[in-house]
Formats: sequence, structure tokens, C-alpha cells
Amino acid sequence: MLKPEIEDGQASLADPQFRADVLAGLERRPRAIPARWFYDHRGSQLFEQITELPEYYPTRTETAILQRIAPELARLVPADAALVEFGSGSSTKTPLVIDAMKPSAYVPIDISGDFLRESSRALSAAYPDLFVLPFEADFTRALTLPKTIAAAPKLGFFPGSTIGNLIPHAAVDLLRAMRGSLGLGAHLLIGMDRIKDADVLTRAYDDAAGVTAAFNMNLLGRINRELDGTVPLDSFAHRARWNDDRARIEMHLEALRDVAFEVEGRPFAIEAGATIHTENSHKYGPRDARILLRAGGWTPVAEWTDPDGLFGVYLAEAQAERPAP
Ligand code: AVJ
Repeated sequence: MLKPEIEDGQASLADPQFRADVLAGLERRPRAIPARWFYDHRGSQLFEQITELPEYYPTRTETAILQRIAPELARLVPADAALVEFGSGSSTKTPLVIDAMKPSAYVPIDISGDFLRESSRALSAAYPDLFVLPFEADFTRALTLPKTIAAAPKLGFFPGSTIGNLIPHAAVDLLRAMRGSLGLGAHLLIGMDRIKDADVLTRAYDDAAGVTAAFNMNLLGRINRELDGTVPLDSFAHRARWNDDRARIEMHLEALRDVAFEVEGRPFAIEAGATIHTENSHKYGPRDARILLRAGGWTPVAEWTDPDGLFGVYLAEAQAERPAP
């Protein structure tokens, strides 16, 4: 929830962390602003549109995989497990998992109370007998889950290849935090987009209809709206490029000419051709994915893909492992 702050008699709706990240990110070289700030109301709408684009295969591919593996999932995950979803967002894939493994409880965790209430309400309406326990928290740190599910086996759910937004170092930290939250013996069901043809990847992040461009550009619009910015939007262009060395799609906003603007009264300049880095979307081959999971303390137990090998869904278990042979 954004709380209005009164400043010089003016109501500012900006999240103080957004302001800090934008000012620091424009100061830094190379310029970079964390991808999480894409998701204001308009950005969330644009992301929903992205998931329906012909070029953006991840959402429909992962959904089809989850549908197909439902019977197997029911066998692999303990009966009466509590389903814990990290970053529940709009929870569109959750019903597939609920139908598959019939959880004893559903615990959506999100830092945004608004999203949380929305997704909890929708899930409760669709599953009147399901015990829904929304948990407003930052899941990048190990959490103490509600006492009511302490004794239940746990299934963590982290779909959408959201893990790909993090550099591997941070991805491992997050997986370890999830292990800490869910505990030994827990399972994790996680989606990771795969490495594939660079043109297919680039098109998925630079669609013909320009929706991803609008999604990226909306960050500048948000800066203007919420941080009193004067960024000339027509002086920037959306760029999506495949970084093969780091196996990731990068999104940037490139200055088309020398530009000067202000944010919260502070002056900034960016030279023609320079960019603001706005998102990383890391891709993992099957072996990369398994190593990442193990590095985070999760032992892979099953994996699935689609007929074209575009996307990976992994089931892993938090096992106590021997540290040395
Ligand atoms: C929501 C982070 C998984 O990286 O594919 C989609 C975000 N950015 N198109 C992704 C996104 C541009 C998406 N994730």
C-alpha cells in the first residue's frame, strides 16, 4: 500500500524505495533501475497483455505443462501439503496446482497487500472449502510461516520464471531463503525459462505490436507521474537484447539523442546511445537449472518441459545432504 506523504503542502504518492532506486539508478554507471518498479497499475495491465502475445511463449507454455503434469504432481507431493506461493501476483496458475494436489491450505505470500487481498479473494471464491491464509511479507528473507500450517508438509510454488529476474547470486540467496521458510522435507515447484534461439528470445521481449516496448517505457512514465519527472518519452526507445555470455535477455531504455531532464528537482543528463538497464531475464538450460536449485539447497526430483523444449518446470526437495563424499 502506498501511503501519501505530505511534503511542502503537496501530496506525493511515491513509494520512498521507488524514489531511492530511481535516483541511485540514474546516478550509477551503467544506469539501472530494478525491474520490480515496472508493476504499477498500468505496468501490471501491460504485463497481462504481454502474457497473451503470440511472441511471448512462457505463460501459455508453462500453463500447458502444469495442466499436463497434474496427475504426476498428485503422486509426487505428499497428501495434505500446504501450498505456499511466493509473489502470488494475480495467481492465474494457482488453480492448476490446487486441482492437482488438493492442498490442505493455501498461503500466498506477497509484499503488496493489495495483490494479496485480490488473489486471496478470488481463490476463496473459487474454492470455498480451501483454507486461505494470506501472508504479507518480503519472501526474499526466510520467514516464519503461520503456526496453523507448521505441521503440514509444504509445497512452495514459484512459477513464471520470475527467478530469471535475479542474477544467479541473488537467485541462490532467494532459493536458500525459501528453503529456510519452508523447512527440511519441503518441495518446491518452480518454472524457469530455457535457453533457445536468440531470435525467438528477442522477439518475445520485442513484440511486433509494441506491448513490451510500452511496458518498458511505462517506467519512464511512472517516474514522470510519481517523481515529478520531466523525462521526454519520445527521446527514448525500447531495446531488448540477448546477452549470450550471461544467458539472459536484457531490456534497456536507450536515449535517441542527448537528453537532459529532472527527477524530483534533480538534474540528469544522458548522452545519445546510452541506456538505462531496466530488466534481466535469465534463461536456464536443464542442467543449469538443476545446478541453480542445488546451489540453493534444493535437490531436483522431477522435471518437465513442453514438446518444443521452450520452458522448464522443476520439482525439488529440501533434503539434508552430505556436504562431502
Ligand atoms: C515476469 C519476470 C517472468 O522476464 O519474462 C516479460 C517479465 N518482461 N516481458 C519475464 C517480462 C518483459 C517476465 N517475468
